[in-house]
Amino acid sequence: MPKTALLKLDEKEYPLPVLEGTEGEKAIDTRTLRAASGYIAYDQGYGNTGSCESNITYLDGENGVLRHRGYPIEQLAHYSDFVETAYLIIYGELPNPAQRKEFGQRLRRNSPVEMQMQKILEGFPTAASPMAMLSAMMSALPAYYPELATNNFEKDLRNFDMAAAIAISKIRTMVAMIYRYTHGLPFVFPKRDLPFCDNFLHMMFSDPYQDYEPVAEVSKALNLVLLLHADHEQNCSTSTVRMVGSSAANLFASISAGISALSGPLHGGANVAVMQMLQSIHDEGDDGTRFIAAAKSGSKSKRLMGFGHAVYKNFDPRARIIGEACDTLLKRLGIDDPLLHIAKKLEEAALKDEYFITRKLYPNVDFYSGIIMRAIGVPMNMFTTLFAIGRSPGYIANWREVASNPKGRIYRPRQIYMGATQRDYVPLNQRT
Ligand code: SDX
Repeated sequence: MPKTALLKLDEKEYPLPVLEGTEGEKAIDTRTLRAASGYIAYDQGYGNTGSCESNITYLDGENGVLRHRGYPIEQLAHYSDFVETAYLIIYGELPNPAQRKEFGQRLRRNSPVEMQMQKILEGFPTAASPMAMLSAMMSALPAYYPELATNNFEKDLRNFDMAAAIAISKIRTMVAMIYRYTHGLPFVFPKRDLPFCDNFLHMMFSDPYQDYEPVAEVSKALNLVLLLHADHEQNCSTSTVRMVGSSAANLFASISAGISALSGPLHGGANVAVMQMLQSIHDEGDDGTRFIAAAKSGSKSKRLMGFGHAVYKNFDPRARIIGEACDTLLKRLGIDDPLLHIAKKLEEAALKDEYFITRKLYPNVDFYSGIIMRAIGVPMNMFTTLFAIGRSPGYIANWREVASNPKGRIYRPRQIYMGATQRDYVPLNQRT
């Protein structure tokens, strides 16, 4: 007999079904609440509300658990790479050798971005936000691939494999193009024979006279950064992709909206905000003490960026992995980055401070990722675009769940209206 919750309200009782996930997560199903009682459930920011059932990623915030299709992030970080993890997140299983080969070839075949799309960039001042440029380029893709973006779930799912490969492969090329454009450099075309990350580094840093010489540790570190960002349950930008996709908007349009959501400093933009914070601490000769004191003021504008998380309340497993990778890469490249020392001192001080301990604020994935990206040579204002490359498999897999759900419906939350009650119109000449 399935469990039910019993809501007692206005001398009436409303039995509500209880749902339980494969990992024991429990939910009260309130889908019938409004029709039965006239009441809605209220949860500002949805922090305690499930918007969907999903098979992609499982988070346990209390215990710092992150698994993609059942595989722990620690194992994927150790044994896998970004392209293989992208396949796993999108298709649900680790690829066999033939599937891995075919997927890699499909990505390589779709690396180039149409020359005409350069005009989209030319419409932006070079100082414009790289995330705004990326979102604009992504939203233009349906114009180049109308057969893959018909805004009809059935048709778009038939062409899903190609659309998914185009999205992942071209978002990476677009980021490199944005870097080149904003630095006044000629575009570098992708090479068919290069693996995903090496091709990105080639398109970013080669020049007409000298191809970028790949360094194994740099490619490995980039692979890890992208892999650790590949998906993260119903975060702000992934929920945005699902919201937009629920209107039957195509994959590219939905990802474009997700990129805009990711750009905010409370979300994907935090990796830039962390570096700006570390740089200002360094420039002010502060050892972090003054900054930590200010962060405890509770003012949103003074927060310790890269700290805290809406779900993780003990530690972000990705932060631990990326922190170690940071040390390894900087040692291998012989870089002694003062910002890394400041970050470590900040982490050490904050983790001993009552304010952070009581609020369960720990470093999140953004705290160290910027230091790795800086060591690779990525300029700070491009950090969040790399987060977008990494997150593209998660966006794609979530869009596919929405598009494939036969019982799916358009996302349309309700509200509690707190505005003026009914009143009559006053003609202009009678208003004071
Ligand atoms: C990402 O959702 C995801 O999965 C996101 C992400 C992903 O992979 O998609 O993991 C990626 O976005 C990581 C988060 C990156 N953002 C930052 O690093 C920005 C700094 N962090 C915070 O703004 C904040 O911690 C959030 C936004 C991440 C989480 O906010 P919550 O859970 O809504 O926490 P809250 O705002 O309710 O704050 C709870 C308390 C408050 O204090 P009190 O009012 O109880 O006194 O903690 C304080 C806050 O003032 N607080 C902080 C803080 N974060 C929360 N105080 C100082 N520094 C901080 N960073």
